[in-house]
Amino acid sequence: MTIDRDSLIAKARAAQGQAYAPYSNFHVGAALLFADGSVVTGANVENASYGLALCAETSAVAGAMNRGLRGGLLAVAVIGGLQGEDGPVVTPCGRCRQVLNELAQLGGTDPVIWCVGADEVLELQLSALLPHAFGPANLG
Ligand code: THU
Repeated sequence: MTIDRDSLIAKARAAQGQAYAPYSNFHVGAALLFADGSVVTGANVENASYGLALCAETSAVAGAMNRGLRGGLLAVAVIGGLQGEDGPVVTPCGRCRQVLNELAQLGGTDPVIWCVGADEVLELQLSALLPHAFGPANLG
């Protein structure tokens, strides 16, 4: 499975266009690539009750789980910015790191995370973003 970084980023950017973020105006898109070649995307979904916002990465993981995917997570691209413009690099929030870790651990992978900004793409393994992670293996 070759991993085409730029095409995954393009899919995250397309997903960003579906963000529902009228309160923060911060539009985020995420794309997940799996070992079988499938790509699942998500965008952030906000709520008038502000604290209920769903992040793009969490939406994407929920979408993947709902398609029956349980492992093989190889790569993630995340892009975000005010009004959908590119700005500083966006790294997954703490909750999203944990949510991504659940899917990654299920399949025993340590996905690369491409965090996209206007001027750079930061490349990190999930294990670097969430060291010593708690996951399904801890529960037996
Ligand atoms: N957001 C994401 O979608 N992913 C992240 O990793 C960081 C934050 C969203 C949540 C909220 O809708 C907006 O960005 C501003 O925090």
